[in-house]
Amino acid sequence: MTSKPPLEFPKNFLWGAATSSHQVEGGNRLNDWWEWEEAGKVKEKSGDACRHYSLYARDFDLAKSLHHNAHRLSIEWSRVEPEPGRWDEDAIRHYAEVLKALRARGLEPVVTLHHFTLPVWLARLGGWASEECVSHFERYVNKMATALGGQVTYWITINEPLVFIYLGYIIGEWPPGEQSPMLALAAFRHFILAHGRAYQIIHGVYEKTWKTRPLVSFAQHVAHHVPCSPYSLRDRFSALMRHLFFMKLPFDALTRGYLFFPGIFCEKLPFKNTLDYVGINYYTREFIHFTDLGFPGIFGDMCSLKHHRDIAKRNQMGWESYPEGLYRTLMEVRPLRLPVLITENGSCTPDDADRWEFIRTHVAAVHKAMTHGVPMIGYLYWSLLDNFEWAQGFGPRFGLVEVDYASQERKIRPSAIHFSRMCETRRLE
Ligand code: FCB
Repeated sequence: MTSKPPLEFPKNFLWGAATSSHQVEGGNRLNDWWEWEEAGKVKEKSGDACRHYSLYARDFDLAKSLHHNAHRLSIEWSRVEPEPGRWDEDAIRHYAEVLKALRARGLEPVVTLHHFTLPVWLARLGGWASEECVSHFERYVNKMATALGGQVTYWITINEPLVFIYLGYIIGEWPPGEQSPMLALAAFRHFILAHGRAYQIIHGVYEKTWKTRPLVSFAQHVAHHVPCSPYSLRDRFSALMRHLFFMKLPFDALTRGYLFFPGIFCEKLPFKNTLDYVGINYYTREFIHFTDLGFPGIFGDMCSLKHHRDIAKRNQMGWESYPEGLYRTLMEVRPLRLPVLITENGSCTPDDADRWEFIRTHVAAVHKAMTHGVPMIGYLYWSLLDNFEWAQGFGPRFGLVEVDYASQERKIRPSAIHFSRMCETRRLE
């Protein structure tokens, strides 16, 4: 029997892992999540998390030793702007040092400006549901691009806007804990406006100050949406609606310059083509069933998958490993004719062999998409470290590196070693 030839990746392909400030830094007392945790809305508090705010250099040493050449992180807005318009220069200097530390280790920074957390003062002003949020975001983005732009090419304005809108404004499980479709729609519109303005601001600052070209995108959570029953027209309708709203609408708005969803929105935006690349966070496929024709019922709901016998592996969050969904998603964004970066993809599992299987099969899906004409920039695993998984607390373990939260010791997992071989050789055997 002949073995299959290895899958080869280009020389400049980015390999690495992602984190976000609140999940790893520890001590983020000035944001809305901290307040939410203090109010007892989740079972565990983020507390010291991985103490990455002070241990970042050590963590980047690990990433370097694992042959990563890129790393995604987020800036904690509440640290750099603890009050409206007042900058904490020490915090800004800290992030400048963090970026330098990445560069010194040959790691390309991918910088997220907003990863779920808002400064408390802004949450009190109404957060994303208030149009004011857009101008506050503009000021923050301008300051960050000016202060840190010399070190950054890849920017992500906002992480998974539809996830925090859904969980924060429809389900109410995350801050601000609303269950209001109207506020959700307002937050969605403000996210679109905020991204577009941020894109223009970052490009403006780079043209004037840095004389280089930034690459700006947002990180879109994509799931492969399938009807719970393929024979039910109503389930198929809900799966399609969910797909159109959660996947197509944001891309359409940001590339074509209009916000259009039949019967809900119709607005011409003051910008278009505000994506330099596509940022994809992919984890699983979602089975959707029909609920009602109202809003947000039109997007259906997820069915309990007990009766789906074909679902083999699930992780600690109950998510199925379904690499084919990543391939299909990538083929779906191909018509945008933009380069694509996998900004998150990962699994939390007590069995590390499953983690490597997850990575291997998903990277193979990325390769398949490349051979079918999707221009890929790179692959960032979620996450470098075990960390604070929002409402789920510290239970789910996504890390390539295991964290002992009591001693803050790090231990490299075998899956990280397998992945590092791929990063080093740029090939998947
Ligand atoms: C994504 C989030 C990230 C992390 C992973 C597991 O939706 O962007 O912060 O929680 O899920």
